[in-house]
Amino acid sequence: MKEIKFPEGFLWGTATSSYQIEGAWNEDGKGLSNWDVFSHKKGKIKDGTTGDIACDHYHRYKEDIKLMKELGYKAYRFSISWPRIFPDGKGKLNEKGLDFYKNLVDELLNNDIVPFPTLYHWDMPYSIEKQGGWYKRETAFLLSDYAEKVIMTLGDRVTNWITLNEPIVVYLLAHLFGQHPPAHKKFIRSLVVPHHLLLSHGLIVQRARAISSKLKIGITNAFMGIYPGTNDEEDIIAADKMKNYTYRLFMDPIFKGKYPENFAKNFFFKLKLKKFYEEDIKIISEKIDFLGVNYYTRLLVRKPSIPFIKFMPIKAKYPGIRNTDMGWEVYPEGLYDLLIDIKKEYNNPIIYITENGAAYKDKVVNGEVDDKERIEYIKEHILMLDKAIKDGVNLKGYFVWSFMDNFEWTEGLSKRFGLVYVDYPTQKRIVKRSGYWYSEIAKSNKLILEE
Ligand code: FCB
Repeated sequence: MKEIKFPEGFLWGTATSSYQIEGAWNEDGKGLSNWDVFSHKKGKIKDGTTGDIACDHYHRYKEDIKLMKELGYKAYRFSISWPRIFPDGKGKLNEKGLDFYKNLVDELLNNDIVPFPTLYHWDMPYSIEKQGGWYKRETAFLLSDYAEKVIMTLGDRVTNWITLNEPIVVYLLAHLFGQHPPAHKKFIRSLVVPHHLLLSHGLIVQRARAISSKLKIGITNAFMGIYPGTNDEEDIIAADKMKNYTYRLFMDPIFKGKYPENFAKNFFFKLKLKKFYEEDIKIISEKIDFLGVNYYTRLLVRKPSIPFIKFMPIKAKYPGIRNTDMGWEVYPEGLYDLLIDIKKEYNNPIIYITENGAAYKDKVVNGEVDDKERIEYIKEHILMLDKAIKDGVNLKGYFVWSFMDNFEWTEGLSKRFGLVYVDYPTQKRIVKRSGYWYSEIAKSNKLILEE
């Protein structure tokens, strides 16, 4: 047996988000969200489900937190639903919505679980989307008004705050590839979307600082391992370009106070933002306390074979490749490489892995779920954390996506990422084998490898 010890105070947690677990979509004064409207449209969600009920966590949060406590998970990353608090995105506040999160936080604290709320995990009031959503600069200010109210209310009890979850997904999937609401494919119009998202992030950081100097505030970005498909010079260049258009787009403005070269050169981008650029970039690059890293898989990049395209992402294919139920390649080394890259490129920030995990086709047999593959996936990634810490990465915690099975966006309820299985018809929770296994790590702060 080999034991791998983690630094004292390393935070072992799990993650979820509001639309994916809460349900209660039209209760207690909550406003309609972009995802409520989208998931109700025919054909948008692959299995025809919605988040109307999801895990019914809104009504079951106490029992869910009790389970977390029993399992010894130390921290919980959840998100706050903007339309639950401001049904129209602005104006009248819905006290009952705020009460839900007050109670949730109290319940977590009473159970010694560290709350890690995200202020924006993709669900926005539908009225804001209708008024132009992320195309409009005003949305950045509205999101930060809502966030300020939440931080003012909970900031005496909650220290760690995440402004946005994966803004790149909001840009690419919602505005460029037409997959998430508002499901647009607007190449030019969407160029301002990253900027407005980043602006809202910066504004929230500023507001939080004004509320209390004790708060720790960061952002969660999505990352993938990005590797050249071959050793060809052109593939290497293509991979570097892809980094500019993906994660550097949401990292450089915050950490370096500028956009990556290729993006900043875009004529339309410059034209639209000319007036505000200097003043905004100062807000965006406001110092943060930590970076949230979400990592699942990697992609290979080839040189483009069509004009105007700068790079071509492809999936790895080789004998013995392991893919999860999302079709994502299991590539733990990518997490290590990424952490080392971030350390070098962004001056060794404090990092939490705010999401990592895998979907598999779990089955309940005799009341149990034996999910060996998920244990392997998580174990292999945790080994990379250890390696990265030993190489000087400033890593403070790890959150498995997800605490329980939930509504996986356009995949609906069909993809299961949880450490806890949810039987949707009865809403029964069944801890998977991985859930018990992770519990040992969280409780002992050690990974034990059987040889
Ligand atoms: C991430 C999202 C999270 C979840 C996982 C599987 O991109 O942040 O909500 O859907 O993927």
